[in-house]
Amino acid sequence: MKRNADELLTFILDSISKIASLHNPDKLLVALSDMSKDIVFADRCSIWILDKRKKKLWTRVADGIKPIEMDEKVGIVGYAVKENKSLVINDVQQDERFNSEIDKITRYETKTMMVIPMENNHGEVMGAIQVINKKENEIFDNQDLKYLTLAASYAAESISTILLMEEINQTQKEIIYRMGVTGENRSKETGFHVKRVAEYSWLLGKLYGLPLGECNILRDVSPMHDIGKIGIADAILNKPGRLTDEEMDVMKTHVQIGYDILESSELPLLQAASIVAHEHHEKYDGSGYPRGTVGEDIHIYGRITALADVFDALGSERVYKKAWDDTRIFKLFEEEKGKHFDPKLIELFMENKEKFFAIRNEFTDV
Ligand code: C2E
Ligand code: SIN
Ligand code: SIN
Ligand code: FE
Ligand code: FE
Repeated sequence: MKRNADELLTFILDSISKIASLHNPDKLLVALSDMSKDIVFADRCSIWILDKRKKKLWTRVADGIKPIEMDEKVGIVGYAVKENKSLVINDVQQDERFNSEIDKITRYETKTMMVIPMENNHGEVMGAIQVINKKENEIFDNQDLKYLTLAASYAAESISTILLMEEINQTQKEIIYRMGVTGENRSKETGFHVKRVAEYSWLLGKLYGLPLGECNILRDVSPMHDIGKIGIADAILNKPGRLTDEEMDVMKTHVQIGYDILESSELPLLQAASIVAHEHHEKYDGSGYPRGTVGEDIHIYGRITALADVFDALGSERVYKKAWDDTRIFKLFEEEKGKHFDPKLIELFMENKEKFFAIRNEFTDV
């Protein structure tokens, strides 16, 4: 199986234009792996990523299939990565480095294999491209090795960019989550409160019809809604009884404090978080705080987090109140529909109660 020079050029240009138009990392990895597979007529291709901290090699396969993970030193791939060496092996089952465990998991018989290490922008090995079983029982030759090396160097650039972006995203999310937990811990709210509010918010966004990307943003930032509570004195925040009007006025400043902390950041996630911190106590009829914004002038992130937060607050014990039972919560929701809460969100909530219960059951406080 060979291509002539013309076919090869067409194939490469095709692949590159297809890949360049993809912005979703998972789809991009699949496209890179398809390209690598097709360029050498292989049956399968895996892209292995080296996780230096965990000392693991793992492969992120197409949607739905669990990533495969193995020790960084294991197998032919482990060898290629450790030695930074490209390998062509046409009698895999005879090779003592071969890790036959993977075949057992995937129920597949590996016969021939090529592995090309990939380097990141700093010249460090960050993983490998592996193709398995040349079609029609042929063997991989030097020409195949050349082509796959080409594909690997192209893939390496895209992948190192993806990994860098994911690291930045992950860092942002982790900072946000930890800040959210910090805010809640101050007010002695239990560990899973922020987690539940995050999941309720995601679900409300989905039911409301927000694009998945926005739902995910909302899930990441809604835990931050009460970050401003770090600026409220303990005597008020953890007062066992009801707050006086003066104390409540102080308490209400937590939305402005939170907004001020986050708003000046240019990180997109922190920008979104600042909206949630600012607007989660606005009410649909304009009677909320801090600005008394009305209806859909309240950002949808604010309207959603408001419902998620109150649902969770009412169902939980606080220093100042016992947990409410569900009947009482739903009665309040019906009464507050169009007053405190966006009527559309209340309807979606009521129609999908079991889904919210499922989240609550998954993240119960112990
Ligand atoms: P939180 O405990 O996280 O409550 C969030 C929101 O859930 C409240 O916003 C309110 O809209 C709703 N909520 C919670 N518990 C009840 C309740 O027993 N009845 C009703 N109708 N709604 C409830 P809100 O009122 O703006 O309060 C903001 C934050 O102020 C609360 O966050 C809590 O940290 C504090 N807070 C409010 N009232 C009291 C109080 O009487 N005593 C103390 N120690 N803290 C209070
Ligand atoms: C190996 O690297 O030895 C096994 C990996 C595989 O078969 O996918
Ligand atoms: C409360 O009763 O603790 C708060 C009242 C409210 O804002 O819904
Ligand atoms: Fe709040
Ligand atoms: Fe809260």
